[in-house]
Amino acid sequence: MPRPYDVWLSEVMLQQTTVQAVKPYFEKFLRLWPEVTDLARADTEEVMKAWAGLGYYARARNLKKCAEVVATQHGGIFPDTEEGLKTLPGIGDYTAAAIAAIAFGRRSAVLDGNIERVFSRLYRVETPLPAAKPELRALVGEMTPEERPGDFAQGLMDLGATICTPKRPACALCPLNEDCLALKTADPETFPRKAAK
Ligand code: ADE
Repeated sequence: MPRPYDVWLSEVMLQQTTVQAVKPYFEKFLRLWPEVTDLARADTEEVMKAWAGLGYYARARNLKKCAEVVATQHGGIFPDTEEGLKTLPGIGDYTAAAIAAIAFGRRSAVLDGNIERVFSRLYRVETPLPAAKPELRALVGEMTPEERPGDFAQGLMDLGATICTPKRPACALCPLNEDCLALKTADPETFPRKAAK
């Protein structure tokens, strides 16, 4: 399994930014600061400079803060549970679940925008977002396997990014097309349902 530091760094960078845009930044950060303790000791100005171009600069400030908390309060070791991870600066429900699943092999229910869309369609969830979130989280939680829960989550994210897209999903290519209730009985593109404004 990948290191918690690598998973955390990439997940924070990937919030609102594409994989393609993140890649050179991820590599630069690991070159400059190979361990979370290196990032904790780094000069904040240097970190902000290395982040320049990625946008959403609050993420960079939280990144630095989080590294400091891990270094000083956790002996340089990331907590290995969702609950523990959520106590850290900048780590919310999604990031905590993603790190727990991908870096620690925990069976946590990872729910991002892509996975919400995949499951809304697969189970034809009629409740509009965001009210449907607890229902979707429960469905993802039930389906998440004991084995390789991190690969399961990342596979769903990739499915949502490439095949189960918001517009004109490529249902003919989808590995889940025989099970998809939205495809069977409705127009998948109309899911997830959205609350009337
Ligand atoms: N986007 C954000 N995190 C991701 C991940 N772990 N896998 C694929 N796409 C992602």
